[in-house]
Amino acid sequence: MTKEQPQDQWNAVDNYVTHHLAPADEALTAALAASEAAGLPPIQVAPNQGKLLYLLAQMQGAHTILEIGTLGGYSTIWLARALPENGRLISLEYNPAHAEVARANIAHAGLDKIAEVRTGPALETLPKLATEPGAGPFDLVFIDADKQNNPQYVEWALKLSRPGSVIIVDNAIRGGAVVDADSTDPAIVGTRRMYELLAQEPRLDATAVQTVGAKGYDGFLLGRVVA
Ligand code: SAH
Ligand code: DHB
Ligand code: MG
Repeated sequence: MTKEQPQDQWNAVDNYVTHHLAPADEALTAALAASEAAGLPPIQVAPNQGKLLYLLAQMQGAHTILEIGTLGGYSTIWLARALPENGRLISLEYNPAHAEVARANIAHAGLDKIAEVRTGPALETLPKLATEPGAGPFDLVFIDADKQNNPQYVEWALKLSRPGSVIIVDNAIRGGAVVDADSTDPAIVGTRRMYELLAQEPRLDATAVQTVGAKGYDGFLLGRVVA
């Protein structure tokens, strides 16, 4: 038995798994270094979660991916690497400084022909995107932006997808706070509304899984568009 505290143990196990199965390469390391140097918050997915996104996109046979919430483009790089050469990823980011760092990281990773970052509040860039011929449907949507808007993002993901599309929502457990019906935290209120919406939504067949790791106790929601 270990004497370590849970977070130390979760870090050690994430490091172990990452070392064997999701080792960093130059582009991923550079993306994290540039993000840190630019003062971005270190809230990107963990490496083994990035690998999970990559594997899910490959299993899905995705050619088109929509990401909501780019930060420095770390998850973007994992997702874009799952796409074929003629694939396309659009990532939406509110903060122009984040978007600039992400664009440089994506270019450095050699993915700028595949992945594009659009700046603006996603609730403004999504309706614009929806009017573009050929912008959808997306084979996979990764939602990881401001959590209070999760219900609207799921609605947009459904509009911009097709039967068989995959929708993934990060931070769906939040240290267990998601069961706090009295929470006034907009992130929790928004995430709970998303679950309530999905409970009534026949178009998405979904589940959520709790996770522990370098990012603490959280989890993700995974769904398949039915119709
Ligand atoms: N997916 C990234 C992490 C995203 S962090 C990764 O794992 O590497 C959340 C990002 O969402 C932040 O960069 C934040 O600026 C952005 N964001 C916050 N509100 C937003 C909004 N209304 N529209 C689009 N992006 C938003
Ligand atoms: C936060 C946002 C995230 O997307 C995440 O994975 C972890 C933390 C945050 O806003 O604190
Ligand atoms: Mg997240």
